[in-house]
Amino acid sequence: MHIPWCVRKCPYCDFNSHERKGELPELAYVDALLADLRDDLEAAQGRAVQSVFFGGGTPSLFSPAAIGRFLEQADRLLPFAGDVEITLEANPGTVEAKRFAGYRAAGVNRLSMGIQSLADDKLVALGRIHGRAEALAAVQLARQAGFDNFNLDLMYALPGQSPAEAEADLRELLALQPPHVSWYQLTLEPNTLFYQRPPQLPDHDAIADIMDMGLAVLAEHGYAQYEISAHAQAGWECRHNLNYWRFGDYLGIGAGAHAKLTSPDGRILRSTRQRHPQRYLDDPDGRISSVRELSAEELPIEFMLNALRLTAGVAADQFEARTGLALLEIDSMLRVARERGLLEPDPQRLQPTGLGRRFLNDLLAIFEP
Ligand SMILES: C[S@@+](CC[C@H](N)C(=O)[O-])C[C@H]1O[C@@H](n2cnc3c(N)ncnc32)[C@H](O)[C@@H]1O
Ligand code: SF4
Repeated sequence: MHIPWCVRKCPYCDFNSHERKGELPELAYVDALLADLRDDLEAAQGRAVQSVFFGGGTPSLFSPAAIGRFLEQADRLLPFAGDVEITLEANPGTVEAKRFAGYRAAGVNRLSMGIQSLADDKLVALGRIHGRAEALAAVQLARQAGFDNFNLDLMYALPGQSPAEAEADLRELLALQPPHVSWYQLTLEPNTLFYQRPPQLPDHDAIADIMDMGLAVLAEHGYAQYEISAHAQAGWECRHNLNYWRFGDYLGIGAGAHAKLTSPDGRILRSTRQRHPQRYLDDPDGRISSVRELSAEELPIEFMLNALRLTAGVAADQFEARTGLALLEIDSMLRVARERGLLEPDPQRLQPTGLGRRFLNDLLAIFEP
């Protein structure tokens, strides 16, 4: 569920997010989301919803009442599994005590907070609307509101950041004992302000030092790296994201959302929604902006792009189950990957080695058509 507005656009961000101007059309947007969902009911083929993710943008700009209304109606359209995981992304600059408790009461059971850094100078450099104190307060508020399941986003390789500063940032974040941490390297994305006017980032060697340090510190604190950027205490992995990485099906509704669905006859379709919020709202017939069927040639790389991000990889039989292709068809690729030490030799699994994870692009290149 994509909610495409933010208080202010961060200079490094290329997500589909638009600066809020005036009141948000909450009610109209929730109605559009529900209409969008109704159009997808057939494609869902009666499968129960295992997880819901309100991503953005900044979903915490929406009131708990709006989120609650959506969840209640959506559950009627497409029943949620009893243990459904419902995550909402929140920016620490947009939260108050009442909001978090309201989301919890509305059925949200996991929060993902964009902390980014706990150093005020870095938060300023990143153009964030919150400081260190608000970030710390948000974590406390989440706990008070009854969220035992939450994720904190932290970025590293920030403008002017030394390895020692990155380590202090990470250690301080881990002292808060979040069940889940997403630890991202800041990247300069085209179409962002940082790309046009790049800030001074740490050099290659410093970034390598930060990465080695971070993985060691996270492990030392009991976090397992189950995906490139995702680290969790035992049992707190994000089920929603695991489904993406295991090449499962998902609906995607809201401005700019992506969906991947397997049709009953085995075709795999990717679709995207109209990116611009106003156009998404104004033109119900134009909500879906593209639908594309994945060809047999591109399926191996599409599958591997996801599966090989996972430390444990996936069971080999999942390749056939999820793509409809025989494993034999990629046998020569698998052999090359194993010979080069990038893929574990176990034929029952498709799992990257340590080397494969470090040189993931080289590993993935083997599966390019
Ligand atoms: C949609 S945002 C999370 C919620 C909310 N919008 C916020 O920023 O607090 C998703 C996360 O992606 C990460 N991110 C965004 N742009 C990035 C970039 N250029 N490089 C690395 N991580 C980035 C940030 O950690 C951010 O919290
Ligand atoms: S990082 Fe988050 S708050 Fe900043 S513009 Fe992107 S989506 Fe919005």
